[in-house]
Formats: sequence, C-alpha cells, structure tokens
Amino acid sequence: MIIDLQNVSYRKNGKMILDGVNWQVEDGEHWIILGLNGSGKTTLLNLINGYIFPVYGGSANVLGYQFGNCPIADLRKHIGWISNSLAQNIPVNDTPLEIILSGKFASIGLWDKVSDEDVSKAEGIMEKLGIMKLRDRTYGSLSQGEKQKVIIGRALISDPDIIIFDEACNGLDIFAKKDLYNLIEKLAQDKKSIFFVTHNTDEILPIFNKALLLKNGQVHSKGDLKTVIQQENLQDFYGSDVDVFERNNRFFIFAK
Ligand SMILES: Nc1ncnc2c1ncn2[C@@H]1O[C@H](COP(=O)(O)OP(=O)(O)OP(=O)(O)O)[C@@H](O)[C@H]1O
Ligand SMILES: [Mg+2]
Repeated sequence: MIIDLQNVSYRKNGKMILDGVNWQVEDGEHWIILGLNGSGKTTLLNLINGYIFPVYGGSANVLGYQFGNCPIADLRKHIGWISNSLAQNIPVNDTPLEIILSGKFASIGLWDKVSDEDVSKAEGIMEKLGIMKLRDRTYGSLSQGEKQKVIIGRALISDPDIIIFDEACNGLDIFAKKDLYNLIEKLAQDKKSIFFVTHNTDEILPIFNKALLLKNGQVHSKGDLKTVIQQENLQDFYGSDVDVFERNNRFFIFAK
C-alpha cells in the first residue's frame, strides 16, 4: 500500500476542509479524483504531499512515511506535483531549465547546487517534452501550454513514485491535451502511480481504474472506476440529474 489515510481531518480558520477521510491506495493504481469546487481535492493532495498535516487525530501514511512519527519533508521528492497553484508561485524570471532542476529539491526557485549530470537529465526531459527551445527563456514569457510542460518537467526530474495532475488540462489546446494524454499513458507503463483531478470526465483515460469522489470534505464514494462513475451514484453525488455515457472507453457526464 502506498497511501493509507485513516479518519484524516483538516481544519483551517474554523472550517472543516477534510472530514474523516479514509483512503487506501495500492501500488500501481491510477486514480481519478472528482468533486465540485471547494470539495477539498487540492487540500487532500497537499496533505499527501506533506505540505499540510492532518488535524484532529487520524493516521496518515504515504510511501511509508508515517505523519507525526518521522520527518516528512523528503516525502515531496517522491511525488511529482502538477498544479495551477504551484504554477502560480513560480518566479516569472526563472528559466525553464532552473525550474525543472528545482524539482529535484522540491523547492520553488533553485537554491541548491546542481551537477552537470542534473543539467543533462533536465535537458533530456526537455527534449522529451519538446521544449528544449525554451531552455533559457523566462517563465513569465511562456504561453500557458508551454508553462504546463515546464511544470511537468519539474515533476519528472526526481523520478517520482507518485505523479499528481491537478486540473492539468486547463488552458491546453486539443493537441497539447493529446500530448499530455500520451505522456500520462507512458508514465503509467513506467509503473508510476498516477492521480488525476479533473472536472471533465472525458479526460479520464482508459488507464485509470479507480475513482475517489469528494463532497464537502468527505469521501462520498470510492473504488473501481466503472462502479463509481455510473449514473445512479453520480446523481446522488451531485445531488442533481445527470446523463452519463461512455464512448471509446471515455466517460461523458452532462447536467440535465
Ligand atoms: N487557508 C484556508 N482558509 C480557509 N479556507 C480554506 C483555506 N484553504 C482552503 N480553504 C477552503 O477549503 C475548501 C476546499 O478547498 P480546495 O482547494 O481543497 O478545493 P478543491 O476541491 O480543490 O476545489 P477546486 O475544484 O475549486 O479546485 C474551499 O472551500 C476553500 O475555500
Ligand atoms: Mg483544486
């Protein structure tokens, strides 16, 4: 098991943001995380990353790091994190090369010394992502899709065990999305565990086999994707009538 959350809660400024979450993930599973705005998805992933701590008891273990019993700063180096909240915090004058290298230290900004080997590795990743030509530009001058690829490169440099995509398709054109889908499929073949947060169920690729539905900070339902993503369960989850259909192994949900 790579994640074991038992009765985990998190409260901030008097608001219960995560409330008694139980979630177990086995190695090699690929999870979709769904929930309306403000349901606690990003907060849950911040907790998995070790950026915040559970409040009110419960027990959290991620990749063998037991929260509360051992220093968990190192945990972040095993997790690739691709999210808008991270993207917004990147200094605009940093170059793609610096940003990708900073992923090795899970830092914002590059403060540590890097080796020639690190630089070659970062360049190899840039080649793979097709962004070598952006190597020395400034982050602030990149398009949204280009920024996204840099953030993905940053997530990959430390060979993470878990890769989290938090609404990673936002702002990408249809071909950039297709590139991202191909990359996710390749990462799945490379035996990475992938978590994918989205509001758009058509982004659920066939590699995803599990789903977690969060509602008001609580787990509404979880388990095998095809059991969770079905009409009756989703109507209960959204509290509203929805149409669900599947085409080419992809799911589509419409509010009725
Ligand atoms: N520091 C904070 N103080 C008070 N409330 C907070 C704080 N951080 C997050 N919240 C609240 O916690 C709730 C969950 O936020 P979170 O970002 O986890 O939601 P989300 O499911 O990722 O939503 P979205 O789909 O909009 O990204 C929101 O209502 C948010 O306003
Ligand atoms: Mg969010």
